[in-house]
Amino acid sequence: MIEEIKALKKELNAVILAHNYTRGEVQDVADYTGDSLELARKATQVDADVIVFCGVYFMAETAKILNPKKTVLIPDPSAGCPMADMITGEELRALKAKHPNAKAVCYVNSTAEVKAECDMCVTSGNAEKVMKTFAADEEILFVPDQHLGGHIAGLLGRTYSLWPGYCPTHAMLTAKSIEDARARHPGVKVMVHPECAKDVRDAADYNLSTGGMCRLARESEEKEFIVGTELGILHRLQKESPEKKFYPVTERLVCPNMKKTTLENLRDALKFRQHEVIVDEEIACKAKKAIDAMLEIS
Ligand code: 13P
Ligand code: SF4
Repeated sequence: MIEEIKALKKELNAVILAHNYTRGEVQDVADYTGDSLELARKATQVDADVIVFCGVYFMAETAKILNPKKTVLIPDPSAGCPMADMITGEELRALKAKHPNAKAVCYVNSTAEVKAECDMCVTSGNAEKVMKTFAADEEILFVPDQHLGGHIAGLLGRTYSLWPGYCPTHAMLTAKSIEDARARHPGVKVMVHPECAKDVRDAADYNLSTGGMCRLARESEEKEFIVGTELGILHRLQKESPEKKFYPVTERLVCPNMKKTTLENLRDALKFRQHEVIVDEEIACKAKKAIDAMLEIS
């Protein structure tokens, strides 16, 4: 199957991008693995005709928005992000109408329609840097992740209007689960994703995007880490730092949508040029402004 994927990739002049949470075998066959920011950037740099995006739908949609002329395929189009679907374009328009002077900022985990309504987009890897560019007295509507928004507002000493969205996978983590993991591995530092709730973030040593976690693991003197994010990251952490040890806070932290991409449906995506990601041109054009504004800053 791996050989078939490589041959089809050549035939189509395709590139495979995979998120850090995808299955290990999918990460291994991909040309690039990364967090949302790294993959969005990569999508603007590749000169392949076809991008096969292994991850969830909003990520493939972002790649398409950045490359309107390229064919973007997603192996399983039902791989959504429940958090991204927690706010609709209509709901955001209603919120903006109530706050006519506010700037609307979306986490990249949002639909193209929501991005199209926003002044700025952020990822967990650049949110602090990007949000610093807003004046301290600017009114900010942050959607859809209340936790990433709350985390950045806390870091910058600001108050944002937070949409009550959240990640159901990271919601499985509790401060108690961090405490238990520390008891199992005394003295080992804990890193969690900023999509975790405040008490979980406070209980950890580091709040980092998945790309930030990989960097920390590679560059730190520490030899062991407790990891509070989706389990797929462990494959990359272990691959890049084989001499180090990584312990998940809990083995239950699986995002079912990130696991929908398999070698088989990846092979089929290339073989049958399916499932093409299409974004309405007008929406894509507006959404691109918010993504470009973010990429310019970070
Ligand atoms: P990263 O950008 O940190 O990879 O996060 C994406 C995501 O969906 C986390 O749940
Ligand atoms: Fe969405 Fe959470 Fe899955 Fe990330 S881990 S894709 S935020 S549901």
